[in-house]
This record gives sequence, C-alpha cells and structure tokens, in this order.
Amino acid sequence: MQDRSKSEHKPWSGRFAEPVNELVKRYTASVPFDRRLARHDIRGSLAHARMLHAVGILSAEDLAAIEGAMQQILAEIEAGTFPWSLDLEDVHLNIEKRLTDLVGEAGKRLHTARSRNDQVATDVRLWLREAIDTIQEDIRALQRVLLDQAERHAGTVMPGFTHLQVAQPVTFGHHLMAYFEMLKRDAERLSDCRRRLNRLPLGAAALAGTSFPIDRERVARELGFEGLCENSLDAVSDRDFAVEFAACAALLMTHLSRLSEELILWMNPRFGFVRLPDRFCTGSSIMPQKKNPDVPELARGKTGRVNGHLVALLTLMKAQPLAYNKDNQEDKEPLFDAVDTVTDTLRVFREMLAGLEVDAEQTRAAAREGYATATDLADYLVRQGLPFRDAHEAVARAVRFAEDKGVDLAELSLEELRRFSPLIAEDVYQVLTLEGSVASRRHPGGTAPEQVLRAVRKARQSLG
Ligand code: ARG
Repeated sequence: MQDRSKSEHKPWSGRFAEPVNELVKRYTASVPFDRRLARHDIRGSLAHARMLHAVGILSAEDLAAIEGAMQQILAEIEAGTFPWSLDLEDVHLNIEKRLTDLVGEAGKRLHTARSRNDQVATDVRLWLREAIDTIQEDIRALQRVLLDQAERHAGTVMPGFTHLQVAQPVTFGHHLMAYFEMLKRDAERLSDCRRRLNRLPLGAAALAGTSFPIDRERVARELGFEGLCENSLDAVSDRDFAVEFAACAALLMTHLSRLSEELILWMNPRFGFVRLPDRFCTGSSIMPQKKNPDVPELARGKTGRVNGHLVALLTLMKAQPLAYNKDNQEDKEPLFDAVDTVTDTLRVFREMLAGLEVDAEQTRAAAREGYATATDLADYLVRQGLPFRDAHEAVARAVRFAEDKGVDLAELSLEELRRFSPLIAEDVYQVLTLEGSVASRRHPGGTAPEQVLRAVRKARQSLG
C-alpha cells in the first residue's frame, strides 16, 4: 500500500491546521481491510449517481463520466493495479479520489446527498448479502454429501450414545441426518438474517437525511434491496445485522464443531468407527504411528474464534450513543473473518465427508458390547404385560449376569434369560438383535433404515 502523505490530502483536511500524526493515520485507516468492499462500494455509488441524475442533480455528461471511470476503476482493482493509499483512509475515499483524478469535477459531485456513514452501511449490507448467498450454496453442497453418506449407511448399525455411554443402537445414516437437520436450521436462520438486512441505508446521509430531493426507492430497487431503512439515525448507526449474522455463523460453527468432536473420537483406534482420507490428516514428526485428525480439530478450534467475533460485535455496539461512531469501523474484521472461516469450514467438510469411510464391522461390534438392546428387552417384557419399572429391574439383573459371563444379552440361552422373567420366550431373540432393535423404531424421526431412507428422500426434494 502506498504512503503518499506528502502528495495526498484527505477531503476533510480543510478544517485542520496540521497533517494527521503518522501513527494515528495507521490507527484510524481501514483501507487495509475494507478494500474488500470495493465492488459493492462502486455498485452503490453507481446507483446513487443514476438517482442523482434522474432527479436532476447530476448532468447526463457527469453521470456518463462517472460510469465510465467506475468501469476502469473496477478493472484496475481486479487487475491489482489500483493505487491504494493508506493516506486516503478507507475504501470510499480511495475510490472517490481515483474517480476525481480520472474525471475531475464530475467525481467531486458524486458525494452530493450522501455521507460515508450511509455509504459504508450500504456497502457492508450489500457485501454481507452476497456472502450469505454463497454460504447458503456451501451449506446445500455439504448437505448433499451428508445425504449421500446417510443413504449409503441407512442400515449401518452403530451404538447411539447418551453421556458418551452406549445407549441404544442407531444407524450411522440416522446419526448423519441429525446434522442435516442442524444445517437446515442454520440455513433458515441465515435466510431470516438476509431478509432483515436487505434494506437500504443510503439517503440517511451523515445521520439526519439530506435536503436534496432524492429518490431512495429508486436506489433501493437498483441495488436489489427489499425496502428502506426507515429511520436515518438507525440506518447509519446500527450494526445489528452483523451481530445477527455472527450469531448464525457461531451456531453453524458450533454444529460443525460437535461433528468434529465426534469424528475425532470415531477416528481414535479405540473406536475405529471411521477413516478420514489421508489428505485430511497429518502425521507426527516424532511418532511414526500417528494419523491426526487436524481438520476436525481446527474446525473445533475455529469455532472459538467465530464465537469471539459474535461477542466482539455485541460489545462494539453496547455503549454507542446514536448515531454513527467510528467504533463501527471495527465491525468489518470480525464480520469478514466470520464469513471466511464459515466458508472454508463448510468447503473442507464437504470434501472430507465425501471421502469418509465407515467401518461397519467396528460400529456393529461396539453396539454389541454395550448391551445396547437392554431397552428392547424391557419393552418386550412390557408387551408381555409387565409394568415398565419391573421390566427395567429384571433386565438390569440380566445385564449384570451377562456382564459377569462376559457375553452380550443375545448370547444368553433362553433358559438363562428366563431366570429373570418367566415371560421371556423364544421370540425374544428378534428384539435382542441390533437389526431388530433399529428396525422396530420405524416412526417418522426414528432410526429404522426405512425411515432414514424416507428422510433422505424428503430432504433431497427440499434441497431441489
Ligand atoms: N471507514 C469508515 C467505517 O468503516 C467509513 C465511515 C466513516 N465516517 C466517518 N464519519 N468518519 O465506518
């Protein structure tokens, strides 16, 4: 970034007797990071300029000059040849200065009826709206991978856990579909956030509105906003949309972090449930046997970072009097980083989960080890007429017996089982098998393979 303190003066420097302190210049500048808003800044400026022309404030020649120069500026930014200057503080002043260098007077007229306060609020909303659309696509792509894996493993039995202790058998497909549901709600929350942020701040000017006869509706239409920010003070000062987005991002990351935690456990040889493709793991420089789940570990770690951004944005807002305060410049880095982190995490998860391999023998063996069908035996006794509490007691004793023998419930003979209740008959073995257990939970939302497949079909339709 160029430092042209001698050659450039800021548009506001007329009021000042001495140039700004070097350190202050660096401290107050946002251009190193808000350059990311350049495309949206230009888009907003063009809509503003066209409106100024439509209401008779800007001549056709000035508008044409601005439109032409903005094309060139955009090309320069994309080509990396744009002369960014720290001295010009932020993206807005950088672009305005370049515009004025290119077209003179016309460039200076662009800022009529506008302030950087409503300009930046507009840019950030446009930028975030686009980011949300990209994230929605990435969520859908990850959901599709989950559906493919859930379909493949609709009948793969694994232990379901509560308190991280084997509880009841479930299918791997059912487990993955739980994450599908979480992501679905994440996407809904983002749509909701997008709807609320999709309002136009321009026209609020610095804080009080403008004395020029502007046409805000026209600008809103051109920029694809669904409406106007209805209060000029609110328009320039609130960043609740950024807070809301960060909350959505934190929840989304939290869901992926839970999945990360499970992948890390499942990859541990003590579990041995899954294998991640080698390209998503790393080794140890000292312990040759190691294959570390770095990607899920990092996703878990980066969740802390995004949660931090949410807290940073809330804290940024909490003591600001109306209307705009420079504090708001600090909204960008947390927001940008939240978007980047969520996007990267969704993309890396999509690839990683597509390559996930499940060891169905291991998951099955683990379910057998933990007396996962004990509830099924209790339910069986209830169906024979025993009150549930008594059934629970009888099965608990049977489990203790099996444990002492070092076998699973299904491995006890009928004679042995009948010691705990005379109501037990030969047909009990149907409910003691893992397959029988999962197949019996065949209501909507249950773990039966047929229900998992039904859920997958329904989900595919909803994704379109
Ligand atoms: N760079 C500033 C920001 O991001 C733009 C608005 C500056 N407005 C002002 N009155 N200094 O918030």
